[in-house]
Amino acid sequence: MSTLRSRIIGTGSYLPERRLTNDELAAMVETTSSWIEERTGIQERRIAAPGEMTSDLAVKAAEQALQAAGIAAWELDLILVATTTPDLIFPSTATIVQKRLGADKTRIPAFDIQAVCTGFIYALTTADQFIRAGSAKRVLVIGAETFSRIINWQDRGTCILFGDGAGAVVLEAHEAVDQGILSTHIYADGSYLDLLRCTTGVSDGGSRVPGGDAQPQSTDARGVQAMLEGFGYVTMRGNEVFKRAVMALEQIVDETLEANNLSKSDVDWLVPHQANIRIINSTAKRLGMSMDQVVVTVERHGNTSAASVPLALDEAVRDGRIKPGQLVLMEAFGGGFTWGSVLVRW
Ligand code: COA
Repeated sequence: MSTLRSRIIGTGSYLPERRLTNDELAAMVETTSSWIEERTGIQERRIAAPGEMTSDLAVKAAEQALQAAGIAAWELDLILVATTTPDLIFPSTATIVQKRLGADKTRIPAFDIQAVCTGFIYALTTADQFIRAGSAKRVLVIGAETFSRIINWQDRGTCILFGDGAGAVVLEAHEAVDQGILSTHIYADGSYLDLLRCTTGVSDGGSRVPGGDAQPQSTDARGVQAMLEGFGYVTMRGNEVFKRAVMALEQIVDETLEANNLSKSDVDWLVPHQANIRIINSTAKRLGMSMDQVVVTVERHGNTSAASVPLALDEAVRDGRIKPGQLVLMEAFGGGFTWGSVLVRW
């Protein structure tokens, strides 16, 4: 029986020009290029230019996705931007994107979704719900980040990992039996605040009081500077995050296949969140997939948080790897913790 489903009709992406190599990082903190590559798979990442905002990256990715979909911005019914690094606390980056794309300002909603590295999966899930409910026919979903703005560039445990970028998809409602988004699965567990967080406090709009636990704990120069300037930075207990990510992703891929009565061998492509090649390898192993069936961009992009899955997806769609009729499994894990998956019949 056919049912109302969301089909991805266009993808796009954008990366800032500036490449930051491992060698450059090794000149900034106590690390080596080979350590970074061996432990994470990352060789380089992109960094937004001074003054280049998350909305700038988002608009460029969105324009490509709209062009690929063959529709104009005014035909959209909803705009969602997944980001943890919005231009401003408010208004949302989605409203800035709406104006800059020339989308309809009289009838459509636009809002941000914050689920850190799982943001794009959360946003796709939300878009799919609007479409299945009949509330929207065409939805623009963007994952865009300028994580370089919230990195402590003196912390070797985190500054080697992250990069900036944006990816986007256009979804369209259609009647289908087995095409488009087949299922979405999202979760959160707020017990792990101290394993992965941003220290941002009240000075730029957060609700916590100065001196509260959201403020940088450290009294080193960088911590004090962050407090004075009113922005926070990422802190992470990488090893523990790593273990939780592997466990959560193993569980979510099993659940996703079970929910669709599919087996591991049915999956044509894994498009994972690009945090660490070792996490990606372990999910691929769990699925019994060869790395030839996994879209990997981590070596060139690093971890671009909510942008990582749509950046990888766009690359594999544009270079012709992902073909109509194939089964594509996207998954992500991030701060919160949050995690989730989306299964698509292309
Ligand atoms: N260069 C050299 N040494 C480093 C280093 C770096 N850039 N970063 C950490 N180290 C050191 C640590 O200080 C530690 O030294 P010690 O044994 O003397 O204390 C040692 O390497 C091992 O640290 P550990 O944190 O156990 O390393 P790891 O193998 O877990 O790798 C990460 C660290 C951050 C690469 C890894 O934990 C990771 O990728 N975690 C998950 C990241 C992630 O997915 N985050 C976002 C979720 S979306």
